[in-house]
Amino acid sequence: MLTLAAAGHPAIYWYMTRATGVVALCLLTLTVVLGVANVSRFASERWPRFVIDGVHRRVALLSVAFLLTHIITTILDGYVPIRWLDALVPFQSGYRTLWVGLGTVAFDMLLALIVTSLVRARLGYRGWRAVHWLAYACWPVAVLHGAGTGTDFRQPWMFAIDAACVLAVLGAVGVRLSGANLQSTTGALR
Ligand code: HEM
Repeated sequence: MLTLAAAGHPAIYWYMTRATGVVALCLLTLTVVLGVANVSRFASERWPRFVIDGVHRRVALLSVAFLLTHIITTILDGYVPIRWLDALVPFQSGYRTLWVGLGTVAFDMLLALIVTSLVRARLGYRGWRAVHWLAYACWPVAVLHGAGTGTDFRQPWMFAIDAACVLAVLGAVGVRLSGANLQSTTGALR
């Protein structure tokens, strides 16, 4: 693909930006759903907790890999004025300042999550957990970014993907909240 770009098809970067953005959003959604399942202590014979935890971490890493590609291809594309700094400092971009800025905010929150997870042992569980709440904030900001600036938002398939992501997270959070209530009222469900 990079050869194609070099051979005079610069739009390949733009296609890659769009594709990797969609995949990153799906993986981020799965990461949030698995994280919520984990704190809800969801487990079954097929899906013991250590498996859910392991998949959660790996999917999170994969989403970061797609996200980095999304950002790199955005900048390499060069068709719109988005610089390296715009990927780190929000609301500076000369192109769709608000919507691209929201993507940067989501990325910054993810960076904070990654760094604190790497130094989790030093930070202590409480500190790490406090920062990990950012995951809940990062996801809707990323959804808004994709809907606000994405070329494909008005396509039925993209709308279906966005709707499925929103339903998946709302469903997981709903189950988590109802589970918490159940446990607090019966006190003996675990
Ligand atoms: C957690 C962080 C992020 C996620 C999950 C994400 C995801 C997405 C999604 C789903 C789209 C829509 C793609 C489409 O409609 O086909 C998109 C578009 C876009 N994103 Fe991101 N993004 C993130 C961060 C960033 C950052 C930091 C930048 C650049 C500084 C960026 C630049 C762009 C641009 C320029 C587009 C528009 C591409 C087009 O023309 O369709 N994104 N992103």
